[in-house]
Amino acid sequence: MCLKTFVLFVTLYSLTYSARADSQDWWKHATFYQIYPRSFEDSDNDGIGDLQGIINKIDHFPASGVDAVWLSPIFESPQVDQGYDISNYTKVDPAYGTNEILNTLIEEAHSRGVKVVLDFVPNHTSDKHQWFIDSVNGVEEYRDYYVWANAKVDEDGNRVPPNNWISVFKNSAWTWSDERQQYYLHEFASAQPDLNYRNPVVVEAMKNILRFWLDKGVDGFRIDAVPYLFENEDLLDEPLSNLPGYNSTDYEYLDHIYTQNLPETLDMIYQWRQVVDDFVTENGGDARVLMTEAYADINTTMLYFGTADGTRLGAHFSFNFNLITDLNINSTAQDVVDSVNKWLEAIPDIYTSNWVLGNHDNHRVATRLGPDNVDGFNMLKSLLPGVAVTYNGEEIGQENGEVSYEEGQDPSARDPDIFDAVSRDFERTPYQWDDSVNAGFNTGAKPWLPVSEKYHETNLKIEIATAGSSHYKVYQDLAKLRSNEVLLSGDVAIKAVTEDVVLLKRRYENDSVVLLFNKGEEAVDVDVSEDVSARNGILIKSINSTKELGAPVLPANVTLAAHEALVITDKSA
Ligand code: NOJ
Ligand code: MG
Repeated sequence: MCLKTFVLFVTLYSLTYSARADSQDWWKHATFYQIYPRSFEDSDNDGIGDLQGIINKIDHFPASGVDAVWLSPIFESPQVDQGYDISNYTKVDPAYGTNEILNTLIEEAHSRGVKVVLDFVPNHTSDKHQWFIDSVNGVEEYRDYYVWANAKVDEDGNRVPPNNWISVFKNSAWTWSDERQQYYLHEFASAQPDLNYRNPVVVEAMKNILRFWLDKGVDGFRIDAVPYLFENEDLLDEPLSNLPGYNSTDYEYLDHIYTQNLPETLDMIYQWRQVVDDFVTENGGDARVLMTEAYADINTTMLYFGTADGTRLGAHFSFNFNLITDLNINSTAQDVVDSVNKWLEAIPDIYTSNWVLGNHDNHRVATRLGPDNVDGFNMLKSLLPGVAVTYNGEEIGQENGEVSYEEGQDPSARDPDIFDAVSRDFERTPYQWDDSVNAGFNTGAKPWLPVSEKYHETNLKIEIATAGSSHYKVYQDLAKLRSNEVLLSGDVAIKAVTEDVVLLKRRYENDSVVLLFNKGEEAVDVDVSEDVSARNGILIKSINSTKELGAPVLPANVTLAAHEALVITDKSA
């Protein structure tokens, strides 16, 4: 780098960095990192990741620049749905550790400035939860804890479920209980009975679970399967969706007007927000946050944040899954732009945006959008305004693992005909730490899901050790850049420059940060002089870029190699 370029580079890189966010606002620009505990690190070598494993890797979080970790469920569970079937909400599952180890984890994270968010699974318990056992047995206090209904009888005199509702995991959402002589509702697996939120005792019991963990020092909750909390009280049949390609056993067969996103469900989220806000008022400290999981249309998603005028608040943020649901390997730059703008146009000014590329329910971003596009998409996510959410492994460009039907564990895919299309096992294979046995996940015991063969090439250790660049180094640089004033407060504009090239621009006063991302297979020349001045410099580049850091691009004629992505600063926008 010549002296002149170096001076420019240093000036650009030393843009204003803001002081630490206000304690009630810390989450607004935070990076949240989802840990899938079962697949993270297996400290006792029994094939299942655990809390001590997370503690062993605790320095990974500050080193990666993440502000908060969210742990997928770690509570006592028969593990029918990998912990999303909870039999005791206030007890850590022995496979993962103990409540004391969780306390240690929270302390270790906090001492490094990292917040800890737990997964709250309110729609359903496990069928092994004592509440359900007592409900089945008709114990008075628990009789109405779940959604029970009498059978109907069809023309042939056979017992049939009370209505046509279908489970997300296929087939009827109702299972018959011989003991109780009634059907119970389960919107997911039959081992996950739905709680009855029309019972005020249930509402209070679930609020007490939030309070229990708040008292233990957690910083918030990711709330699972939010749309499903309430169902139509009269159990009305749902109309057909008429979507092509589905049959009467498929969830998509029906239009879920009576089982999803009811007004009562929104109200429940607003009540939970009150619980965490009251806790902060009474106990002080930083905001405790709620993030809701709702795959819903954009307007409904916004309602989970609260009312448009902010008179009632809900989740601090409801996940923006659009970059998952709108995009695939064939998406054009315009598709990316449309997806981002759809969100930006819908969100009321008073709320904070968030960006999600992957999670334990969707194929890994490297697989979904192409391994060579990992840096470009990580850049996009990091440079957009608001919260960035990372699923563990995205920071190293980990791809889906290879899992056979026999090795699969996902209850939604225990049918060889649908396994490849539906199974979530592929994105849940163990984290790839290094190139030792089982990728460093453990010391050799058979992992609950196989380690991907790709770990020899893709693992954290190699990506740290390399003299050159790596997905992980790009991720770290992006994390640092996020506290730059341009990214904290700058305007946002995004456009497609060609069929494959996305240009994202953040601008604050005279400073800009621009992303140029060619997601396509071909090299392309672009003229970006409308958005980038001559006083620019490359700050961060994808690992396949041969350009020089600090050097300017020639705005009227930038050649972008296939899959090349550049983060550029510009002083005189
Ligand atoms: C959403 C979770 O992310 C998913 O993994 C789970 O299967 C369902 N909710 C049911 O709890
Ligand atoms: Mg429900």
